[in-house]
This record gives sequence, structure tokens and C-alpha cells, in this order.
Amino acid sequence: MAGTGNFSMNIICIGAGYVGGPTMAMIAAKCPQYKVTVVDINADRIAAWNSDKLPIYEPGLDEVVKSALGRNLFFSTKIAEAIDEAKVIFVSVNTPTKTFGEGAGKAADLQYWEKTARDIIKASNSDKIIVEKSTLPVRTAHAMERILNANDKGIHFEVLSNPEFLAEGTAVEDLKKPDRVLIGSQLTEKGLAARQVLVDIYANWVPKENILTSNVWSAELSKLVANAFLAQRISSINSISQLCECTEANVSEVAKAIGMDSRIGPRFLNASVGFGGSCFKKDILNLVYICEGYGLHDVARYWESVVAMNEFQKKRFVRNMIRVMFNTIAGKRIALFGFAFKADTGDTRESPAIDVTMQLAAEHANVVITDPQALDNAAKDLQGCGDCTKYVTFENNPYEAAKGAHALAIMTEWNEYKTLDYERIYKSMEKPAFIFDGRNILDHQRLYEIGFNVYPLGKECWKHF
Ligand code: UDX
Ligand code: ADP
Repeated sequence: MAGTGNFSMNIICIGAGYVGGPTMAMIAAKCPQYKVTVVDINADRIAAWNSDKLPIYEPGLDEVVKSALGRNLFFSTKIAEAIDEAKVIFVSVNTPTKTFGEGAGKAADLQYWEKTARDIIKASNSDKIIVEKSTLPVRTAHAMERILNANDKGIHFEVLSNPEFLAEGTAVEDLKKPDRVLIGSQLTEKGLAARQVLVDIYANWVPKENILTSNVWSAELSKLVANAFLAQRISSINSISQLCECTEANVSEVAKAIGMDSRIGPRFLNASVGFGGSCFKKDILNLVYICEGYGLHDVARYWESVVAMNEFQKKRFVRNMIRVMFNTIAGKRIALFGFAFKADTGDTRESPAIDVTMQLAAEHANVVITDPQALDNAAKDLQGCGDCTKYVTFENNPYEAAKGAHALAIMTEWNEYKTLDYERIYKSMEKPAFIFDGRNILDHQRLYEIGFNVYPLGKECWKHF
């Protein structure tokens, strides 16, 4: 292996995205004895990591990066050089849902992963530990190991699965104090030795009892199943939100009551316009595809229904808006407050706001989108939607977005939307003024008292007529 200079080990990560960047920054910050290099084919992304404006917005991340950048944390486009020097290679490239061919719409597109495997073979001159960080279908490690070890250089690659459970918006806290770190390996002598190397890295700051080891397949599958379970809770409570609206039950009261059962627990029971993010839908569809591959059609249908309920919730939200606004929204200005898939991130991947915008635009409403972090991404997301851009504008300032609007719809639970001056907003809007709270974050009674007609999710509405 090439020299490690003053460092005890060279660790690299291929892929400087939402997972690779923060994870490696945390390893570097916590372990000054290692040299940590993050590489990417995207030169702009690498330049941004090396600048004052990081390519992703994540609370607390600036400080973590700053504490290690240039000391033992490096971002680079020199992929081959970094691979050659590394002992441990994390791979965190994108694994989107396939959009073409066999398994389109469900299976994971592994082309980036396989390309990375081939880059690794080409640039390597010594044995390496390869760590899957990207979420991958179960048994991918096996395929990768076969591709990697088919090299004619006599080099051995040991593939580990170390799925990342961080959530966006809380990435730094999740990395600092993970509920668990999961490391899957082959149970061979080489596999166990590689696993120990990775355990030792995390043990620099994670308590030993939170570092779980398992076989590779369990680790890969656990990641898909964790996301499927989390998403399933949201779809479950969202399904109940509609029932609440029909029965005068209140979904927040129901969530509180069931969440106090320690077997159920209180988290991930907030009814919403729908879950988004790069993982949930993709991972569930991937799980469905895998089940189908094994002929487990009933299991596949079960998990597929979690995604179907999410699609239904987004449609239902817009249908309700149309119904309430006298069955026509054509030409009406509608302000969407928030476009990110959740608060504290600029990420808009699979955000429910995308579908809501397209549906509103299809009804020829004039949609004004505001968001404190996600407007650039929002504009990119909507570029491909053809005709719909005609009906969409962007506005930094929520007060300006609301001016002259018939309705506001809360799409993202940004804290700042809780404390806006809604009297001022009400005065600037067309009457009757409507608020559709897709995140149940506002004080509905107070808004009603100001004059709004308020439509929360899963609760009685507050209307003046
Ligand atoms: C998720 C997993 O939480 C994380 O462990 C995994 O590594 C990646 O996928 P993330 O997509 O960043 O993380 O966000 P998460 O906090 O899980 O939220 C996903 C979506 O569910 C968001 O759109 C959020 O608004 C929504 N949500 C969450 C609800 O609608 N209701 C809830 O109660 C919780
Ligand atoms: P995640 O949310 O899983 O981190 P991202 O899409 O944010 O996913 O990041 C994946 C990164 O991987 C992107 O920055 C992309 O440019 C990078 N990438 C994809 N293929 C390769 C490759 N062959 N070599 C290096 N980087 C790659």
C-alpha cells in the first residue's frame, strides 16, 4: 500500500453526496489519526465542499467540516490516486431506482456502483476493504465481491456492508450519536478481520454496545427494512388521518394516545401531506422488487401498499383543496410554503411538494413557491415538467408569496412558518382566504380567529361559512 504519511490509515469515500460528505467529515473530525479523502466525479461538488458554501445544507455541518478540512479531511476529484492510497474505501455513490429495462420503476440502478467497482480494480495495487454505504439491494455485496475479486492483479477485496441510517436535517447529531452502527461482513477469517478494522474506526466515538455486527445480507436487508418500517408508520397514520376527518376524531390526539403505548412509541406518527426524501420510496420499491424476484408476491403487495398510500395522500390533499375552493382553482394564486421534503434541509428529492405543484398546475392554478433553503432545487425539479412551469413562480419572501393569494398550503414543517405574522398575511390575501396545513404545524384556532378558513390534516376544519 502507498504511504500513509503521518496518518495511521488512509480512508477514502467515493461519492461526496448527502451521505458520503457528512459521514466522512464526522470520521475525520473524530479521528485525527486517519487521513480521510472524499472523491467525486462531480468537480463542482468537490469545489463546493472545499469552499465556504457547502453543497448541502445541514445544521452543524459547517463546523464539523471546518474542524478537519485541510488537517485530515480532503475533498478531491483525483479518484484513482485516492483509491491507490486507501486501505478502506467507502462507496457512497447514487443508487437511484431504475428508469429503464428490467425492473424499471422498482429495482435499484446499480450502474454507478458497478462503474465504481471497476474504477477500484483499475486503480488498486494492494488489498482493500470496500464498504458499501449506499443503500443496495440485498446480496449486492456478493456481486461486487465477485466483480472485484475477478481482477488479475492478485489483489483481495473484502466487501462489508455498513448502511447509513442518518436522516437529513439531523445528519450531524445522528452521526455523532447513532442509535446503532451496523457492520455486515462475511464470516470468514478475512471478513471478520475487515469487520474489526471498521469496528475500530467507529469505536473512536461510538460506544461499543452500539456497534452491531452481522452477516452481510442481514446488514443490507436491515437498511431497506428500517426505511420500510418508518415509512409504513407514516402511511399508517396518514390512512387514519382521512378516517379522522370523517369521524371528528383528531389525528394528533390519536397519534398521542397510541404513541404512549411503549410498544408503539411516539415517533414517526405525524400525519402529513406525504413522506418524501431520497430513500423511503426507492428502498420500499427495491424491497418489493426483491420479494417479487423470490416469488413472494403477497409480501411484495404488502409493502407496495405503503407507497400507494403515500401517493393517495398527496392526491387527496390537492383534491381537498379544489373541493374546498369551490371546485375550481384555475387562475387562482396559491402559495406553497416550503418545498423541501422535510424541514432543515434544502433537499427536495421525492418531496410531496413536487406532486402537489404539478397537480395544482394541471388545474391551471398560479403556484408561488417559497422555501428558505430549497428554491434552487425546486426550480431544477420542475424544469422537466413541461407545461407546468408556465404556472409556477418562485419567491424568497413568504409575505410576498402570500400577497394576493387565495390560499396558502404548508408543504414543509419549517419552524419559521410557525411564527410568521399571519394577520399581515391575511390582510394581503384574496378573500375568502384559505390555509391548508399539510404538516399540522400552525395554530389553527388562532388563524381561524384572524379570519382564515383553515384545513388541517386529520382534524376538523375551521371555516367561516
Ligand atoms: C430516512 C431515514 O429516517 C434514515 O434513517 C435513512 O438513513 C434515510 O431515510 P430522511 O429521508 O432524511 O431519512 O428523512 P426522515 O426524517 O426519515 O423523513 C422522511 C419523510 O417522512 C419526510 O418527508 C418527512 O417529512 C416525513 N415524515 C416523517 C412524516 O410525514 N411524518 C413523520 O412522522 C415523520
Ligand atoms: P446520497 O444521498 O446517497 O449521498 P448523492 O446523489 O447525494 O447520494 O451522492 C452521490 C454522489 O456520488 C454524487 O455526488 C455523484 O457525483 C457521485 N458519483 C456517482 N458515480 C460516481 C463514480 N463512479 N465515481 C465517483 N463519484 C460518483
